[in-house]
Amino acid sequence: MKSKCFVLINLLVLQYLVVLCVSQDFDFFYFVQQWPGSYCDSDKNSCCYPTTGKPAADFGIHGLWPNYKDGSYPQNCDPNNPFNESEVSDLISSMRRNWPSLACPSSNGESFWSHEWVKHGTCSESVLDQHSYFGTALSLRQQTKLLQSLKSAGINPDGGSYSLANIKDAIKRGTGYTPWIECNQDSSGNSQLYQVYLCVDSSGSNLIECPVFPNGKCGSQIEFPTF
Ligand SMILES: *[C@@H]1O[C@H](CO)[C@@H](O)[C@H](O)[C@H]1NC(C)=O
Repeated sequence: MKSKCFVLINLLVLQYLVVLCVSQDFDFFYFVQQWPGSYCDSDKNSCCYPTTGKPAADFGIHGLWPNYKDGSYPQNCDPNNPFNESEVSDLISSMRRNWPSLACPSSNGESFWSHEWVKHGTCSESVLDQHSYFGTALSLRQQTKLLQSLKSAGINPDGGSYSLANIKDAIKRGTGYTPWIECNQDSSGNSQLYQVYLCVDSSGSNLIECPVFPNGKCGSQIEFPTF
């Protein structure tokens, strides 16, 4: 009995050490997707289609952002690990389709991806190297199928006004998890569906319920503009 206890205690200590050693410098990720129609008709920024052409009328990736449970987040964690397109060369065509840049002037996306990697990706490099970071975001994009979930609930990008609660319900039904919705305003000042936040565990593999939501507020009825 005594020796069994000893073994058990040893195991517990070992487990504790393992937990300590692999503990991350962040708690979870926000996976953020944006509606291009709301980027382009907003009162804040003009938009420019990528040099490769107008993106599909679908949600595009904004980023995969390491975050802390208290709501704050690390950024620019490793100046010695710049974005290197040749490390993700096999993913570039998928990134062009699913992670397009709408910023002006028109670009091929590289400066957007570089910004996301340098500001956010370097803060999860202990878990995801560049190839896995971009690969993980792309597979989360495929897994979450936001537009499909919304359309199945009769919520279409047709310039109509929809209940925020119904939008959240539709995404929860489709993904299994409660999203956070960020709104912006169109040029007439209407609140509209801009970005959808879902949370992912610190391994990047599983969606989870968000430990904390960002700040900000939409109206209870929001527009879903065309693109
Ligand atoms: C970019 O990645 C490639 C392939 O991994 C590597 O050979 C090259 O040295 C890297 N370039 C820089 C500037 O780090």
